Formats: sequence, C-alpha cells, structure tokens
Amino acid sequence: MLTLNTANTTIMSSDKFRELFYSHQGKLIHKWDHYLDIYEKHFSKYIGQEINLLEIGVSHGCSLQLWKKYFGDKVNVYAIDINPQCKKLEEEKIKIFIGSQSDERFLQQVIREVPALDIIIDDGGHTMNQQIVSFENLYLKVREGGSYLVEDTHTSYWHEFHGGLKKANTFIEYAKNLIDSLYEGHVPDKRKIVLNEITKHINGISFYDSIVVFEKVLRPQPFHIQKGIDMIESYRPTELKQPSLLMKVKERFFGRVDTFKANNRGKI
Ligand SMILES: C[S@@+](CC[C@H](N)C(=O)[O-])C[C@H]1O[C@@H](n2cnc3c(N)ncnc32)[C@H](O)[C@@H]1O
Repeated sequence: MLTLNTANTTIMSSDKFRELFYSHQGKLIHKWDHYLDIYEKHFSKYIGQEINLLEIGVSHGCSLQLWKKYFGDKVNVYAIDINPQCKKLEEEKIKIFIGSQSDERFLQQVIREVPALDIIIDDGGHTMNQQIVSFENLYLKVREGGSYLVEDTHTSYWHEFHGGLKKANTFIEYAKNLIDSLYEGHVPDKRKIVLNEITKHINGISFYDSIVVFEKVLRPQPFHIQKGIDMIESYRPTELKQPSLLMKVKERFFGRVDTFKANNRGKI
C-alpha cells in the first residue's frame, strides 16, 4: 500500500504499477497519472504470467524496465524505436528493434522475428499515420485474448500531429469507425462498415482520456434468449417507429420479425 501526499491530494492505492511508478528513481519516465490506473485495469491479469509484450517508443528505456518489474521474471519485452541510440538500452529480456513504426516493411520484419504477443503498447511518435499504420500491421500479431493499447491519443486533436476535432483520418475518428464494425450484426446496411480480419477480431474497445484499448477476441455471433413465462401483456413503446402495413401483414402470418436475424440473413 502506498500513500503519497502531493500539493493538493493524498493518493492511496494498492495498485502495483502506481507503486512502481511513484517509487521509481532511475531512467527518466513521463506519464499522465490516470494512465497508471488504466494499465492496472487492463494488464493486472498478466502479472506473473509468461507473456510477450511489445512497446512502440523506448525513449530512455524506463517503461520497458517497469514492465519487467510489473509482470515479473516470465515476461519477454520487445520494443521498437526510430532512434538508433535506443539499441544501447537492450538488456536481459528486453529486445529492441530500430526502425519506424510507419514503415510497413520494417513492421512486417518485426512480426516475423517476435512470437505471438499478449500486449502491444503504442507510445511512439503519436502522429495519425504512425498510429494507424502500426495498428493495421501489428494488431493481428496479438494473441486471442490479448490487448492493443494506443497511448496519447489526444494528439488526434492536435494540429502538429495532423489531428483536429472530427478531422477525417485521425486515430480517434479511425477508432470511432471501428465501433460500427463492432456493431456489424445490428446494422442493416453493411456496405459502409469495414469488415476484415482485424475488425472480426475486435471484441471490445475502451475509450479513455488519451488512451484507446482494443480487446482482441474473435467476436462471437451474438444471440439472445428469453426464459420463463409471460406474466403480463408487454408494453409496446409508442416512441418507436410504428411497423409499416407490409410489416404488420408479415407479422400476422409469420410472427414478430427478429431485427437481428433480418439484418444477418444468409449469415446465420
Ligand atoms: C514518448 S517516448 C516513449 C516513452 C517510453 N515509452 C516510456 O514511457 O519511457 C516516444 C518515443 O517514440 C520514438 N519515435 C518517434 N517517432 C517514431 C517512429 N516513427 N517510429 C518508432 N519510434 C518513434 C521516439 O524516438 C521516442 O523514443
């Protein structure tokens, strides 16, 4: 348990990453405080497990060391950085690849050299193109059940990083479009939704201030179930669009239309 007194607040936490971060005294590291809770929430299940982690963005190498301390002896840490100086920061269980996260050929080479990954963290250059190219090349290298975390996504709103509010092609707009892919089964007109190997393997997206986390699991075909006995006549909401005459006729002969089945005809 750590108790920290800052100018205005007292922080009490039993979170391992928070404790490691605030007691750290070695190489330089710079994080927004609320990231520590997000790491804990998504990554604590891997503590002590034999996992492979890749971080884009090495800087002084501190976060790589913190991951080793946080996850324990069985973690293998891989990292990418454009700065050749970072190669000097390699140590036991930390392997660093030098190249750009927006260079697809380089990323494919990294993919060939590393095992399946449980966690990817993108804390690299933070431009829109870098984040999107890295995501599109590396996401499928994440093992089923693993996580892909993109950090400092506030750059989607910053001009110097090619961002801007609601500007097309920012990472945040790209991620928002992936929400439509997540809801694919419920969208009648699927022509405008991106459906590919990546989107099929997104089972959840968590949006936070400055971080987006993708949960990689092959999304199961959703289904719904009713159990038990009708006790009263159900309320038919008047706010909903009323069925057309054709729908009413169909309902009369074939029963109530299942919107999900109707949207997925031929698929289920
Ligand atoms: C925010 S720092 C990383 C901090 C580190 N993760 C930590 O917490 O200690 C960003 C790093 O990204 C690297 N970088 C910038 N552009 C890059 C690119 N196109 N490809 C790979 N790395 C890049 C920089 O050299 C820098 O070391």
